[in-house]
Amino acid sequence: MTSFTLSGCRAVITGASSGLGAEFARQLAPRASALMLVARGEAALEAVRAECARVNAALRVELCAADLADEQGRGEVERRLAESRFGPDLLINNAGMGDYGSLATADPAKLRLMLDLNMTAPVLLTRALLPLLRRPGGILNVSSLAGELPMPDTACYAASKAFMTRFSLALSVELEAEGVAVACVCPGPTPTGFSKAARRPDGTDTDRAGQGVLRQPPEAVVAAALRTLENGGPLVFPGAGVKAAACLFRHLPRFVLHRLLRARHARAKVSAAPPPPK
Ligand SMILES: NC(=O)c1ccc[n+]([C@@H]2O[C@H](COP(=O)([O-])OP(=O)(O)OC[C@H]3O[C@@H](n4cnc5c(N)ncnc54)[C@H](OP(=O)(O)O)[C@@H]3O)[C@@H](O)[C@H]2O)c1
Repeated sequence: MTSFTLSGCRAVITGASSGLGAEFARQLAPRASALMLVARGEAALEAVRAECARVNAALRVELCAADLADEQGRGEVERRLAESRFGPDLLINNAGMGDYGSLATADPAKLRLMLDLNMTAPVLLTRALLPLLRRPGGILNVSSLAGELPMPDTACYAASKAFMTRFSLALSVELEAEGVAVACVCPGPTPTGFSKAARRPDGTDTDRAGQGVLRQPPEAVVAAALRTLENGGPLVFPGAGVKAAACLFRHLPRFVLHRLLRARHARAKVSAAPPPPK
């Protein structure tokens, strides 16, 4: 098991303009020596930079406004890293998005954006950064509890996170001998900007029944993720409820799981249907 020391680290954080990414920046600010914050929204990145600077005046904070779902944006991150001689030793692949609703009614452009952001971006960014990453180094990937489950009406998001979890676990073995620690965090429902971005323009939402017991604040999710990276553990499900759910999903016989998913899906369809005419 390879561990990683956060003290004095030089971290690149994707999706750092809000939610978990901004929280990674806040929690690393007192301990890191340099942060590069990546997202599309420059003004929001500026606000996170100001917060970090208030905590640690000696911290170097670079901003990189880039769309990670496209090749040009990813190229921009690589260019900035090379030009600024940033010398990263930690990459946090956090940027991601969801899409609530059935595949049949999905906007193909949003689907493409989500798949590129959730899978292509972390893979290619990791590939590009590996030769630049100082050793000992770290990679922290943000996956999801959703990756443990086939999820009707969030099928592609859940599948993209299953990809992220497997990718991370394989890399943790592949890079161990090179002195690069790889950890993966799988949060359950966490209050951030995620749901707003995942909802469809017609208001299509996800079925939230039972989510209350799983909900964790971003502060707790990020603290658990950083602790796991420091301790060299490859995978963490933050919160007792989320851990229990992950364990249940893994061990339920497939036919039982399938029945439960069908029942839940049928219930959600009934509650989403318009009321019958009087
Ligand atoms: N919140 C949850 O319930 C939950 C649960 C499990 C896993 N997660 C995972 O946690 C991660 C962080 O999400 P969050 O919950 O913090 O949601 P969030 O508040 O919506 O943050 C998403 C971040 O990704 C950035 N982003 C979105 N599209 C981008 C693009 N094309 N290029 C570059 N950056 C982009 C956003 O910034 P810009 O819009 O400025 O680009 C923002 O900084 C995601 O991978 C998500 O799948 C979230």
